[in-house]
Amino acid sequence: MIGVFDSGIGGLSVLRAIRTRSPQADIVYFGDTKNAPYGNKSEEEVKKLSIENIQRLFSEGATEIVSACNSISIALDAPLLSTLSLSEHNFIEMVEPTVSAIKERKERSILLCATNVTIHSGMYQRSFAGLGKQVVTLPMPELVKYIESGKDKEDIKTLLHSYFKTVDLSKHELILLGCTHYPLVLDLFEEVLEELHASVLVYNPSAAVAAEVAIKFNCEGGGKTTLLFSKETEQTKKTQKSLFI
Ligand code: DGL
Repeated sequence: MIGVFDSGIGGLSVLRAIRTRSPQADIVYFGDTKNAPYGNKSEEEVKKLSIENIQRLFSEGATEIVSACNSISIALDAPLLSTLSLSEHNFIEMVEPTVSAIKERKERSILLCATNVTIHSGMYQRSFAGLGKQVVTLPMPELVKYIESGKDKEDIKTLLHSYFKTVDLSKHELILLGCTHYPLVLDLFEEVLEELHASVLVYNPSAAVAAEVAIKFNCEGGGKTTLLFSKETEQTKKTQKSLFI
């Protein structure tokens, strides 16, 4: 069984893509809504929480793990993965499949929208450095909180406007949604960019991660999805409904 986890509801955007790509896969999802957001926590804190999340998925019967959370990618280094009996054969995170997919694309100037911890980790910047792509970063520190707490559409759009005001959008060809929560409000990103008359592609990496899962993991099963959260909230219920029912 495949286990997918995130700090909260964001990883459901990845789960949705895996479900679409591999309808027969049996998947258990764990969202740590009690501790979300992770994006402003220290590397030590996210490391500890990630270990707990992975152990929780193992205890639910998962044997292959997807970390649907960019913010913890830096914390999950090879020694840590090995103590959890994880390796490239049974573990997939966000950064590597995302970079591989964008590498093949023609756009060269990338605006990376992500949490503070993802941007400070420098993982995307380092990965793109040798590929002839330029990366400018745009932290969106409050956005996950807005999404997790179910802020309304207009509040989220106002927040997005305040972030985009700080960059020159005409300089970028592709906006990379470097946080799995952001595709849940992809329509609002697109509305705001249209209001700003910016013609820039918004890239959601979920499909690239789902493609990697389809290649590497056992996706044959009964197509069962189990959704677990450390805290049920109005938003967990609403998002499950809108994505899967
Ligand atoms: N959805 C996560 C990510 O991709 C976590 C965001 C957060 O908890 O701040 O980074």
